[in-house]
Amino acid sequence: MSTAQSAADPLAELFAASPRHFADSPLYTRLGRVVAADERLLAIARHARSGQLPSNLLFASVHYLLLRDPAQELAAWYPSTGREPAAGDPGPAFTAFCLSRREEIIELMRRRLVQTNVVKRSILLRLGMTVVASMTDEPVMLIEVGSSAGVHLRFDDYRYEIGGRTWGRASSPVVVAAEWRGDGPPPDLGPLPAIADRAGIDLNPIDAGDPDERLWLRALIWPENLAQAALQDEALRAVAANRPRTYAGDAVDLLPEVAAEVPRGAPIVIFHSATRLHVATERREAFDAAIAGAGREHDLFHLSFEGARDLGTDAFALELSRGGEPVRRLAIGHGHAEWLSDSGPGRPRVR
Ligand SMILES: C[S@@+](CC[C@H](N)C(=O)[O-])C[C@H]1O[C@@H](n2cnc3c(N)ncnc32)[C@H](O)[C@@H]1O
Repeated sequence: MSTAQSAADPLAELFAASPRHFADSPLYTRLGRVVAADERLLAIARHARSGQLPSNLLFASVHYLLLRDPAQELAAWYPSTGREPAAGDPGPAFTAFCLSRREEIIELMRRRLVQTNVVKRSILLRLGMTVVASMTDEPVMLIEVGSSAGVHLRFDDYRYEIGGRTWGRASSPVVVAAEWRGDGPPPDLGPLPAIADRAGIDLNPIDAGDPDERLWLRALIWPENLAQAALQDEALRAVAANRPRTYAGDAVDLLPEVAAEVPRGAPIVIFHSATRLHVATERREAFDAAIAGAGREHDLFHLSFEGARDLGTDAFALELSRGGEPVRRLAIGHGHAEWLSDSGPGRPRVR
């Protein structure tokens, strides 16, 4: 086995950092170290599509192949495959699988994108829209940038549970529960604005009704996270039954066109979560400018749930601005919205 020089190789360093990036996945934490130390596996990971995180893509590609063929020896380390769990080190089985299925893995890594559609992040849109409702009486156009399969665009069909309170559609099979870790009372998920129209923009919109695309979304979820997978199934069913309009392409190019469909002066809410962080660094200025541009002829509310410099790597911030002026930070939360808070150790209060 050839050994990778992790100090000199950013890709090896990325995999070596798996305990941080995949903190909720004991399997990926272990496998990350295996890949970081093996040049043959790193060589496969180097085929990741440009701009995509190679570690997420490699793990998801292997997971996808195992979900299609759970009889593989390696599948026994993946709780998602329903196999009797294997004990011991998954490293040798993982390495053997990757080397024997190298071409299929590379083909997936070249073609697919990291587009995990985290249903629980709908609670951030729900919270933000409540605040928008307190600021305008007019019907709003909702545009989600990076909408993936569109599960957030049906946010008002779901039931929400936080801090012992419930909100939203009580009978919904999609139940979004987040732990409240704030010092103050949990947020109010009260009345929503009227929604005049809604649309998603994504580089590659996922068809919620297509079994193969659903399998890829399933493969993007950590193998241990059975609850997230079950919630995703429910949400995808809801979306497939009532598909939101979605535009395929780069938001930088498409936002001006989509915003132009909205009557002048009317309110537009542009929402994105875990999307800007996937935009290549050199494109971020254009991405921000495309969003700001929608405010030239409209009453623009910009709602984002992304990483923030002042937070740790495990937390995102929900920020709201109007017409380019910050309104306030509405919440901070776990990147997958497992918990929300209004403050925290070393973190600023948000209201
Ligand atoms: C990690 S996924 C997050 C999906 C969803 N926002 C969520 O929070 O569940 C990021 C999504 O953003 C899309 N994306 C990235 N850059 C984009 C761009 N410039 N324009 C449109 N979509 C983009 C990707 O295709 C992908 O579906």
